[in-house]
Amino acid sequence: MQNFTLENARAGDRAELLDYLQNAFLTNDPNHARFEALYPDLFHATDEAMARHRIIREDGKIRACVGWYPMDVRVGACKVRVYGIGQVSCAPELRKGGRMTALLSDVCAKMDASGAPLAWLSGWRPRYANFGWEAVGTNLHSSIDKRSLPEPEPGWRVEEIDASQLGTLDALSRTASAFEETSAEIRLERMTRGGKQHRVFKASRDNDVKAMCVMQAGEGADLYEWAGDNAGIHAIIAHVLKTQKNVSVTYSPIDSAARMFWDYASTFNSSLTMLRICDFGALVKSYAPILEKRIPAGKGITLEIEGGASVKIGTPAGDKITLNRLSMTRLIFGPVAPSVAFNLKDNLRWLDQVFPLPFILPNLSHV
Ligand SMILES: CC(C)(COP(=O)(O)OP(=O)(O)OC[C@H]1O[C@@H](n2cnc3c(N)ncnc32)[C@H](O)[C@@H]1OP(=O)(O)O)[C@@H](O)C(=O)NCCC(=O)NCCS
Repeated sequence: MQNFTLENARAGDRAELLDYLQNAFLTNDPNHARFEALYPDLFHATDEAMARHRIIREDGKIRACVGWYPMDVRVGACKVRVYGIGQVSCAPELRKGGRMTALLSDVCAKMDASGAPLAWLSGWRPRYANFGWEAVGTNLHSSIDKRSLPEPEPGWRVEEIDASQLGTLDALSRTASAFEETSAEIRLERMTRGGKQHRVFKASRDNDVKAMCVMQAGEGADLYEWAGDNAGIHAIIAHVLKTQKNVSVTYSPIDSAARMFWDYASTFNSSLTMLRICDFGALVKSYAPILEKRIPAGKGITLEIEGGASVKIGTPAGDKITLNRLSMTRLIFGPVAPSVAFNLKDNLRWLDQVFPLPFILPNLSHV
């Protein structure tokens, strides 16, 4: 395999990188939007932001790129560091020469060494399976319309506020079942992604703000953030449905609003996501709050990734399951219970109480 010289992009590379990315993605879609419009928050003109892009330069020009963006996501009581991978590309005339393979291999090695448990991306499964990503997850997607939504409780006052006032709801936003630890300023910048209009709502009762929602407005509305009292979220959805055809939402089954979103769905499906286990030990540590609750007393096991790391959960860790990286990702993140997916012996059926673990990357954190 050819050796390429890999480097981090720098602040001074910004304009060239943005032109290069546009040109690379035009082969997928002749109307592909510019990347500074799609992801204004990822392309700040600083060395720090630009260094999130590993690039290959040849003859002085950027010829390939992979973006890897660290995020700290809270899923219930668990804090999970996850890298979002995006902007995977190569100049059209140099494709099939191994540049993407070189960049992704390098970024995967760096993520593994970083101590981050997970990496996320959205893309063509066979390609990314070569690098350890599998389509997994137990998240659900509901579309809610006027006929499927019951009348909200009386007494709620719903107001739309200017998106720039999102910061006033910061403390409430942070109580969401899933949240990426970012500032209100970055979240606000993300709300302008793709030139889309985002709307912010709050619901109050007895003059106390008790619920909030962020939606992206289109023909229907996509619910991107929600927090607070379920009855208040219900009142906001009812308010939005006065002018929008439907409200769609993707959520984790452990979300405090999950039951309501499921009950009120007019159409419904499950929503898989592409995850890669990076540091297996760190994954078990990050999910300790859930594992401690779910592992039955006196039960334990060693989980081993073929040719890779192994972890012990529970006590005693007598039995051992060895799987390749993709299958282990499925055992841990589903969507199917381990005993069903892997035809486990009866004495290992307790693993169904432990796995799948939940993971969701909030919509505005996608890259
Ligand atoms: C997808 C893209 C990044 C691939 O870049 P590339 O530099 O041509 O990739 P590589 O040369 O490393 O690999 C190309 C293919 O050859 C294969 N390959 C690479 N090295 C190989 C080798 N030594 N032997 C055999 N096959 C090899 C890879 O498996 C890969 O298969 P895939 O296209 O099914 O993924 C490029 O086509 C592109 O920029 N497309 C437009 C943007 C895009 O769609 N990006 C992905 C968004 S999710």
